[in-house]
Amino acid sequence: MESQTVQTGALRDPSTIVVFGADGDLTQRKLIPALYNLLVGHHLPEDFAVVGLAITPMSTEEFREKLGRAVKDHIAGPLDPLVWEQFIRRVCYVTGDFLDPLAYRRLHEFLDEVDKRHRTGGNFLFYLATAPQFFSAIVQHLGMRGLTDQREAAWRRVIIEKPFGSNLASAKALNHELSRVLQENQIYRIDHYLGKETVQNILVFRFSNGIFEPVWNRRYIDHVQVTVAETVGVEHRGRYYDAAGALRDMVPNHLLQLVSLIAMEPPNSFDADAVRDEKAKVLRAILPFEPLDVLRSVVAGQYAEGAVAGQPVAAYRAEPYVRPDSDTETFVAMKLLIDSWRWADVPFYLRTGKRLPARATEIIIQFKRAPFMLFRQTPTEHLAPNLLVIRIQPDEGISLRFDAKIPGPSVRVGMVDMDFQYAKYFGDAPSTGYETLLHDCLAGDATLFQRADNVETGWGVVEPILNVWQGLPPKGVPLYQAGSWGPVEATDLLAREGRQWRNRM
Ligand code: BG6
Repeated sequence: MESQTVQTGALRDPSTIVVFGADGDLTQRKLIPALYNLLVGHHLPEDFAVVGLAITPMSTEEFREKLGRAVKDHIAGPLDPLVWEQFIRRVCYVTGDFLDPLAYRRLHEFLDEVDKRHRTGGNFLFYLATAPQFFSAIVQHLGMRGLTDQREAAWRRVIIEKPFGSNLASAKALNHELSRVLQENQIYRIDHYLGKETVQNILVFRFSNGIFEPVWNRRYIDHVQVTVAETVGVEHRGRYYDAAGALRDMVPNHLLQLVSLIAMEPPNSFDADAVRDEKAKVLRAILPFEPLDVLRSVVAGQYAEGAVAGQPVAAYRAEPYVRPDSDTETFVAMKLLIDSWRWADVPFYLRTGKRLPARATEIIIQFKRAPFMLFRQTPTEHLAPNLLVIRIQPDEGISLRFDAKIPGPSVRVGMVDMDFQYAKYFGDAPSTGYETLLHDCLAGDATLFQRADNVETGWGVVEPILNVWQGLPPKGVPLYQAGSWGPVEATDLLAREGRQWRNRM
């Protein structure tokens, strides 16, 4: 394999990373392992510090021990004790209530000291790994203490986790509140799907290979399928999930990110705004759902009890913190259309769900059939269309499916795959998916983060669906057995247009 470097990493300034919600899952499972992996790969600035803040009373020593115990379970290989030692001595902890002004006073004093001790030059990255109701308050408090004020030689950035709002109005309100304190270029709205190598590769695949772009349009493509299937249930997140549901949880963010990367026009450069402008255009071109479209083209479902991987699993309604009569959807499928020259009349079928039979995130580009049938003797169901399958996770890779002659004296046709597997070419790089995002934010590159208008447009797409669902008389969400591919209505959505979902097993 030959490699070529397209872009070099930007200069990384010394910096202090402040994590709000440092006692939570995300910090232990993703952020600390990602920072450690970055240090292992020499991708952190030489001078850095990490300050955790949360309400749980803890000393720095206790915090370090807690992280030490947790990190082992969330990194790919064995922990390198020397690197860990080098990392953990730059980590400290402050106890504080996110809503208490005194906590910010203490944090401010503490940061002054840490900044001097570790020579981080006044560059602060605030990572809000908290429940969403604190996002705005934390930023306002930071602003009041002057902690978000940038000077020429000292930047201040804020990473905001998901969910960013729960509908269009709340996302707009949050954007507005943030904009009272921060400039847009200080705000990094995270969508962890953009941290996945395979997702970033969509742009490279499309725009650095000359052979796909000419056929990447309505003339050659029959339809596109985007599937994000999970085998897990709602886990311990019933409280959040029961209020959110699959549509809010996955579609305006992760699924629409995938759609926009597949459908966008080539940007003029890989500059953050050039890429985000093109993505925004795609989302704005999605045909708005009329109430009738919602009823016809959007399917919801909720898992009933069943079995996944041979293990019996409970129904959604029996999960902790879920209302026993909940109608919240754990599955959603829809057809959307993009009203542009490239995509007019090409359906994009999206689906995502929990407790499905396989964990598989993939994008399928189904090409139109060959224009005439030379092989009249071959049953047509064996003359399947060409498929380009982009496997985002797991078993990351890309394959192209085409017809080939089955060896033998008579002409028989079968499907074969040309298959690229990441693991085979590049090995398994240790990654939580957050490394690139943290690295890019430290480097001031916002390409992989959502701009205010991207987030609002995403919510704008699903808003009519939420409105119609809310307005309907309660008639019960269709159920599907845990371990199946969702309700029968999802199969019908494609079947009535002569198509079918491609399920990974
Ligand atoms: C999160 C959702 O954003 O993404 C979860 O809130 C979901 O419900 C998760 O399980 C899926 O992420 P991944 O990286 O496992 O595909």
